[in-house]
Amino acid sequence: MVSPRIAVSLLLLWAVSVCALTVVPPYSRRTIFSPPSTYLIPRTLYARTLLIPQDGADENVLLATWENYSPEPPNVWFPIFRSLDLGQTWAPFSNVTDTQNGWGLRYQPFLYEMTETIGTFPAGTVLCAGNSIPTNLSNTQIDLYASLDKGRTWNFVSHIAAGGEAIPDNGLTPVWEPFIITFNHQIVLYYSDQRDPLHGQKLAHQASSDLLTWGPIVNDVALPTFSDRPGMTTITNLPNGQFIMTYEYGGAPEADFAIYFRVSDSPLTFNSVNGSVIRAVTGELPTSSPYVTWTAHGGANGTIIVSANSHTGVFVNTALAAPGTPWTYVDTNATASYTRQVRVLPSNNQIILAGGGTLGGTANSVTGTILEL
Ligand SMILES: *[C@@H]1O[C@H](CO)[C@@H](O)[C@H](O)[C@H]1NC(C)=O
Ligand SMILES: *[C@@H]1O[C@H](CO)[C@@H](O)[C@H](O)[C@H]1NC(C)=O
Ligand SMILES: *[C@@H]1O[C@H](CO)[C@@H](O)[C@H](O)[C@H]1NC(C)=O
Ligand SMILES: *[C@@H]1O[C@H](CO)[C@@H](O)[C@H](O)[C@H]1NC(C)=O
Ligand SMILES: *[C@@H]1O[C@H](CO)[C@@H](O)[C@H](O)[C@H]1NC(C)=O
Repeated sequence: MVSPRIAVSLLLLWAVSVCALTVVPPYSRRTIFSPPSTYLIPRTLYARTLLIPQDGADENVLLATWENYSPEPPNVWFPIFRSLDLGQTWAPFSNVTDTQNGWGLRYQPFLYEMTETIGTFPAGTVLCAGNSIPTNLSNTQIDLYASLDKGRTWNFVSHIAAGGEAIPDNGLTPVWEPFIITFNHQIVLYYSDQRDPLHGQKLAHQASSDLLTWGPIVNDVALPTFSDRPGMTTITNLPNGQFIMTYEYGGAPEADFAIYFRVSDSPLTFNSVNGSVIRAVTGELPTSSPYVTWTAHGGANGTIIVSANSHTGVFVNTALAAPGTPWTYVDTNATASYTRQVRVLPSNNQIILAGGGTLGGTANSVTGTILEL
């Protein structure tokens, strides 16, 4: 993703970077899952975790899932692993399996715990959204499953978006990469959408008041140039009431798939604000498959943390990503991963970076690296 010339200058800049925040040892990189050699290359990708504050007597339970390239048949599924010690050890817990399409649950899982009752689903329901795709990749289907027992068992809830073949070429019509928030008593599901003939790919969302029926497709990032490919929405709320979304921008002027962000007063109106590129004050330019989160740690504004495919470190902003405020590159001891997820742990100064390995990886595994800021 990064040209050799840029990579060299990044290395030089990295050596002189000064950080508002630092990552301090002990770092601890834990293996969540090592796939057997029978798994198909890349074996694993696209890890996601969920922190469940309370599950019966257990506090701060972590769940993890990922794209799992097991040999077929049987159809692929999303494994759920569980940790009761904040990511130090992990064990198999359950599977989310496709009960609707006969295709399997193949790509881009996302886990979410509901914060309030919506429809017949009580607060505390655990959701798993993902892309159901047949072995021959002929279709994409973003489906939603729910667990009423904190991830032990799963049931199908609804189909959200149906698309064409699972190939990321402009002119084809797949859908990708679900991400969920709650806003105004609705579940809002964001995804990447190649079905609009005006946009090679755009970012959009649909909202639901019952998880069964979904409202109209609302654009979040839809750029005027057809070949541009904004992708991979993630969003977090900020303490000033605003929302920040990050996305990769295929066709960006700074670098292909440069990481952009938008800040909006509502997470439903990102399309009415402009995006800005993330570039560290020391020059690092993240590219591809970002993930954004926010922690209360790091001063009055807390800290926005962004991970990207291109860097082992993370990009942080302690000024609410207000226009012109600096982003700082903070090195970590974690390995880079395609769409590596950042999750804040209960102590606020600790994060877990969940990775399923790299796009070109031939022996990927799923890891969670716990870092202290
Ligand atoms: C960083 O990771 C490497 C490789 O796993 C390990 O040898 C080293 O001890 C780690 N450094 C710290 C400070 O944890
Ligand atoms: C998940 O499904 C696989 C394949 O059927 C099975 O081997 C495994 O035991 C299941 N895991 C759990 C936790 O049920
Ligand atoms: C691809 O797989 C689907 C699901 O099994 C099947 O319905 C479809 O006919 C297949 N398409 C091709 C072109 O083989
Ligand atoms: C977005 O950028 C365009 C082009 O630079 C500019 O004309 C427009 O005023 C900007 N919109 C906002 C809301 O800042
Ligand atoms: C918090 O963010 C605001 C808005 O960017 C900024 O003006 C202020 O300096 C920040 N405060 C701290 C303590 O960083």
